[in-house]
Amino acid sequence: MTGRGHFISFEGIDGSGKSTQARLLAQNLRDAGHVVTLTREPGGSPGAEEIRRLVLEGDPGRWSAETEILLFTAARRDHLEKIIRPALARGETVITDRFADSTRVYQGITRGDLRATVDRLHDLMIATEPALTLLIDIDPATGLSRAVARRTSERRFEDMGLAMQSAMRAGFLALAQANPARFAVIDGARPPEAVAEDILRSALARLPR
Ligand code: ADP
Ligand code: TYD
Repeated sequence: MTGRGHFISFEGIDGSGKSTQARLLAQNLRDAGHVVTLTREPGGSPGAEEIRRLVLEGDPGRWSAETEILLFTAARRDHLEKIIRPALARGETVITDRFADSTRVYQGITRGDLRATVDRLHDLMIATEPALTLLIDIDPATGLSRAVARRTSERRFEDMGLAMQSAMRAGFLALAQANPARFAVIDGARPPEAVAEDILRSALARLPR
């Protein structure tokens, strides 16, 4: 159990608009009277932000696939202990920009089929799912061009290219199909305000009261 508050995650490929929409949903829910903790992964707590630098910067071949799963899960465990669980226990709404579905998709399929390993470690160390996951779906070419236009040093995953982005989009859609009670799939190829309206409607309709 995660406490009394609502736990919401945003997922989707790079450049789909998650950060933009997480911010807008936080604002809209605050306007509706919720107390909101807005956070992100990898990172979200001081320790996990340190791990973020290790996994997102540097040579793409820096970590083995297995080490990478451990690092993302270690970051998530710290985030869960220090930020997410305490906020939910206070009755707040927690909105996180990425959570465990990102590991299922990115670490689960990008370097061989490691999904079973990801799932076992998740069960052992995290064992928590959001009440609602908003999957922002977008054409990979659009996502990649938006992400690349940002030009940050955090490029280990964006450098994987279009074919991999397409595989990851399919991976997210498959997760949504397998978990219809938790996921809402949102069309991200519209102006930010239109996407935000859709997301707010979905959140207000689907969150447990
Ligand atoms: P993500 O967190 O999924 O990588 P961001 O929210 O950071 O995505 O958006 C990536 C880039 O695309 C940013 O420069 C942002 O301003 C822009 N962007 C976000 N949403 C839209 C949208 N609906 N239409 C066009 N551009 C957008
Ligand atoms: P993020 O900052 O959300 O990037 P973007 O805004 O471009 O979507 O995430 C950084 C990268 O980390 C992104 O390419 C996906 C990757 N990632 C994983 O590979 N596994 C994970 O478990 C998480 C949370 C992120």
